[in-house]
Amino acid sequence: MKKQTLPTIFAADQSPHWTSQHDGIWSRRGADLDAVPTLSILTTLWDQPRWLEAYHLYDDQGSELFEEICELPEYYLTRTENSILEAQAKNIIAAAAVECIVELGAGYSKKTIHLLTEQLRQRGHCLFAPIDVSAAGLIASQAAVRRDFPQIEFHGIHARYDAGFAAVDKNLPTLFVFLGSTIGNFNQTDFPRFFRALAEAMGPNDYLLLGADRVKDKNILQPAYNDSRGITAAFILNVFQNINRLLGGNFAREKMRYHSWFNPEWQQIEMYAVAKENQTIRFPSAKAEFIWQRDERILVEISRKFEANRLQEQLSFIGLQPVAHYSDPQDWFSVLLLRKQAHR
Ligand code: AVI
Repeated sequence: MKKQTLPTIFAADQSPHWTSQHDGIWSRRGADLDAVPTLSILTTLWDQPRWLEAYHLYDDQGSELFEEICELPEYYLTRTENSILEAQAKNIIAAAAVECIVELGAGYSKKTIHLLTEQLRQRGHCLFAPIDVSAAGLIASQAAVRRDFPQIEFHGIHARYDAGFAAVDKNLPTLFVFLGSTIGNFNQTDFPRFFRALAEAMGPNDYLLLGADRVKDKNILQPAYNDSRGITAAFILNVFQNINRLLGGNFAREKMRYHSWFNPEWQQIEMYAVAKENQTIRFPSAKAEFIWQRDERILVEISRKFEANRLQEQLSFIGLQPVAHYSDPQDWFSVLLLRKQAHR
């Protein structure tokens, strides 16, 4: 077999762990990203109250619906964050003297393009390495980057975020980019765990660019997660189609409805499926079933909203020091630039 030479974005000791089936896309050896997490789904469904992990939302149909959400007039997040990046990319790249941009997510959105364009303009070269569990997403991203920016050196990292960022060479000055307020979908346990692992993986000359949606009037927040066309409802309830497909369950779309609200105490939007009638949910292959009672809710997703100062203070306890804070004229969304604290 031809020996594969790992690109320099990877740490020197990573060579045994990565392989490439598709030119320019690297996968972690032995990681079965398609394994069905049956027990973890059943564990959360049998919890009190019942809930699901948000990543099950993103099957092909869910990913398409999420793209539609990003275009909705009520869903201000994407266009607000994009406007901040468009206005500030020059300052962000000037402040973060890096050689490589690692995006958490398959990337190559309008938002990333602002950063890549500036990196090329200011430094004349750019390594771009998106990390994603979807090989198809990375291949599409690679084709688009090759078409639009042939000067960019593209390395797709096909892995979970934590495995991906831990493999990046700490000596390569890197800007890690985590946009879209995806951190809002992490629960209180996953949130610090994720940032501790990221801070641990970062080198002394690395930066993190983080998008975070802000706490604001519930009359702005609630419609963003309950749009007039019902796309968000379709996105959230589609998770049950995915679970039926993965586990052979019998969730029925017509026997459930969507409910969401802004919980002011927890400062989060909560998105639920509610049973319209008593029904028995069966998973024959796992020999498991439960009665989903009329009006009982299953929490499918949370979307936490942040106070910028509090978030920066919290991250500083994890070892990520604020460098700059960019926002929009209405202060609806924050883009934070952070770097790893030198000594702790
Ligand atoms: C991906 N994530 C940041 C979205 C959000 O706003 O929390 C997911 C979403 N769920 C419903 N609408 C959008």
